[in-house]
Amino acid sequence: MSIDPPAERHRPIRSYVLRSGRLTDSQRKAIDDHWSRWVVPTADTQLDLAALFPQQGKLVIEIGFGMGDSLLAMAVQEPSTNFIGIEVHRPGVGKLLHGIAEQQVANLKIICRDATEVLLHCFQANTIDKIQIFFPDPWPKKKHQKRRIVQPEFMGLLRDQLRSGGQIHLATDWQEYADYMLEVMEAAPGMRNGEGAGNFWEHPLRPDTKFENRGKRLGHGVWDLLYVKT
Ligand SMILES: C[S@@+](CC[C@H](N)C(=O)[O-])C[C@H]1O[C@@H](n2cnc3c(N)ncnc32)[C@H](O)[C@@H]1O
Repeated sequence: MSIDPPAERHRPIRSYVLRSGRLTDSQRKAIDDHWSRWVVPTADTQLDLAALFPQQGKLVIEIGFGMGDSLLAMAVQEPSTNFIGIEVHRPGVGKLLHGIAEQQVANLKIICRDATEVLLHCFQANTIDKIQIFFPDPWPKKKHQKRRIVQPEFMGLLRDQLRSGGQIHLATDWQEYADYMLEVMEAAPGMRNGEGAGNFWEHPLRPDTKFENRGKRLGHGVWDLLYVKT
């Protein structure tokens, strides 16, 4: 009989693989110069949101912002809304930091940590206005599908952290994942489809993302979903 070493037995399932992508000089400089101002340190305790932003406003969380261009554009377009982007990929954090500092954006902060831990520990229930996950890793192979971030349990946690009337906005360029997202969200207790049961969102309001544009160049479609906490 073989016994797994403890680290193997207890390793959580991750929705990402940390790529060893090198930082550009500009990303490294942004991390050195601006990390302490815009990246929020977290522990397993709730964040003091009032202390994070100069003005109170709606709170939007983006999970897995990638290189962050579309999140930055949203924050600039909506200065009275507060945004927190969560990402584990350091080149993306560096790129977004560079953009935030260049435009001195006050209503956008970054958390560099696994979003499943952040959502579990760092927010009070019923406090978030919108959670968006755009083009999450599709994990297309059957044996990897348990790594998909859109899962019933995680969507239940997101729902708990949303205010009543708060929204979950998902998007993917992978049709089979789109169908899976629809199946999970249609069955999610306490959430209703903002576009009518069983429908995708045909004309979503959001800037294009880097992964989306890559998918379009490869001939992929795009599917958005909008769910509202009842
Ligand atoms: C396929 S990329 C899409 C990036 C971006 N949303 C876009 O559309 O261009 C997915 C991103 O989600 C991040 N990610 C996946 N799981 C995550 C998690 N649990 N916590 C934080 N980031 C995560 C990955 O590091 C990656 O950058």
